[in-house]
Amino acid sequence: MATKTMTTADGPNIKTKLPGPNAQRILEGDAKYISPSYTRSYPLVAKRGRGVIVEDVDGNEFLDFSSGIAVVSTGHCHPEVVAAIQRQAGELIHMSGTDFYYENLITLAERLSKIAPMSGPVRAYYGNSGAEAIEAAIKLARYHTKRQGIIAFYGAFHGRTMGALSLTASKTQQRRRFSPVMPGVAHVPFPYVYRRPEGMSEAQFVNECVQFIEDKVFKTIMAPEECAAIFIEPIQGEGGYVPAPTEFMKELRRICDENGILLVADEVQCGAGRTGKWWAIEHTGVEPDMVTIAKGIASGMPLGVTLARAPIMDWVPGSHASTFGGNPICIEAALATMDVLEREGIRNAEVVGNYILQRINSWVKTHPMVGDVRGIGLMLGVELVKDKRTKEQAHDERDRVVELAFERGVLFLGAGHNSIRIAPPLIVTREQADIAIDVLEECIAIVEKGK
Ligand SMILES: Cc1ncc(COP(=O)(O)O)c(C=O)c1O
Repeated sequence: MATKTMTTADGPNIKTKLPGPNAQRILEGDAKYISPSYTRSYPLVAKRGRGVIVEDVDGNEFLDFSSGIAVVSTGHCHPEVVAAIQRQAGELIHMSGTDFYYENLITLAERLSKIAPMSGPVRAYYGNSGAEAIEAAIKLARYHTKRQGIIAFYGAFHGRTMGALSLTASKTQQRRRFSPVMPGVAHVPFPYVYRRPEGMSEAQFVNECVQFIEDKVFKTIMAPEECAAIFIEPIQGEGGYVPAPTEFMKELRRICDENGILLVADEVQCGAGRTGKWWAIEHTGVEPDMVTIAKGIASGMPLGVTLARAPIMDWVPGSHASTFGGNPICIEAALATMDVLEREGIRNAEVVGNYILQRINSWVKTHPMVGDVRGIGLMLGVELVKDKRTKEQAHDERDRVVELAFERGVLFLGAGHNSIRIAPPLIVTREQADIAIDVLEECIAIVEKGK
C-alpha cells in the first residue's frame, strides 16, 4: 500500500505548534522557489492522507473538510483507487488518445453516458482539468452553433486559462492585468437568493434575473441569435456555495430552447455525487446540453471531461485535442472512483449532508455572525456577516474562523468573499462530521466574542 496506516481513525491529532519545525523548513523553500500566485489560507504542509485524515510533515493529523477543493471524493488514497492506479501504472501509463485508440476511453464514456443528466446519446471529450473541460465546452459551443456570444454569471468561477477566465467573474485579482480576455462574453446576475434586494420575494428576484437576460442583454448588447451558450454552475462553488433556484434553471432552459442556445452545466465542483445525486443539476429536473466534469470524478488524478449531447459534438478531426487528455491511469482512477461513489459515496453524501445541514441550520438564529446556511448534500456553505440586517460581509472574520479551525486540526476553506465551505470527502462518517462541525461552531463563537 502506498500510504502508512494512520493512528487516529476519526478525529484530529495536533502534536506540535503550527506550523511545526518540518513545515517551517518547507515553507521557506516554497517562499523561495514556488510561484507566489497561489493563495494559501494557512500553513498546511501535507505528507500523506487516508480517508478524511491528512497528516502533515510533523505528524499532525487533520480532518479534511475541504477535500482538496472538492476533489478527493472517495477520501484520500482510497484503497480501491490506489490499487487501480498501481495496476494501471504497471500496464500502460500513456498512449495519447489524440493519436491512438484505447478501450477504457470508451468504457468510461459509456459509463458516464448512462448517468449523464441529459437524455439521448452523449459523447465525451477528455482533458486534464476543470478549466480544460470549460475550454472544450466554449470551443464546441462556438463550433456547433457557429455563434460567438456566451453568457456567464457574476460570481462564477470556471477556471483560469484565458477562455475559462473570460467566463469567470469571481474575484478581480483573478483578472487584474490579464485583459483583454476573450471577447463575446456577457455577465449577468446570478440568483443569489440570500443577497436579493430587501423586500423582494424569491420568485420576483428569479424573474428579475431572467428578465436581465431577455430584456437587457438580448435587447442591448447580444442578439439572441448570436448567443452560442449559457454557462452556469448549478451551485456556484468559488462564488460561495450558492445553489441556483430550480425555477431559474427552468427559465434558462426555456430561454435556450426558444433561441437555439446551448445550456452548459459546469459540474466541476458540484458534480460527481457531492450533492447526493451524480449531478447537481438533477435536483432541478433541468437537462443541460453539455456538462463539464473534473475534480471529484477521479479522486485527485487530473481528468477533465466535457460531455455533450451526441449531435452537438459535431466537430471534425483536428478541431480540438490534448496530448494527456484521457490518460489511462486517470481513467482507471475515475472508474474506481465511480465504483466507490455508486456503492456508498453518493448515498452517504445525502445522509451525512442532511445530518450536517440539520445541525447547522439553527446557526442562523443562534449565531449573530451567521447570515445564511445553504447547500445540498456535502456541498454546504455558511455565510458570515457583520450585521444581519445590512448583511455586511464578514471577510476577515471568515478568514479568522478558517485559521482557528486549522489550529484545532480541521481543514476548511473559504468560498466567495465571506462564506465557509463544508466539503468533506463523500465517505465521511457522522462522527467525523460531528467533530468538524463542533470545531467550526466553536471557532465561529470565538470570533463572534472578539468582534
Ligand atoms: C465550477 C468550476 N469550474 C471550473 C474550475 C476550474 O477547474 P481547474 O482548477 O481544475 O482548472 C473550478 C475550479 O475550482 C470550478 O470550481
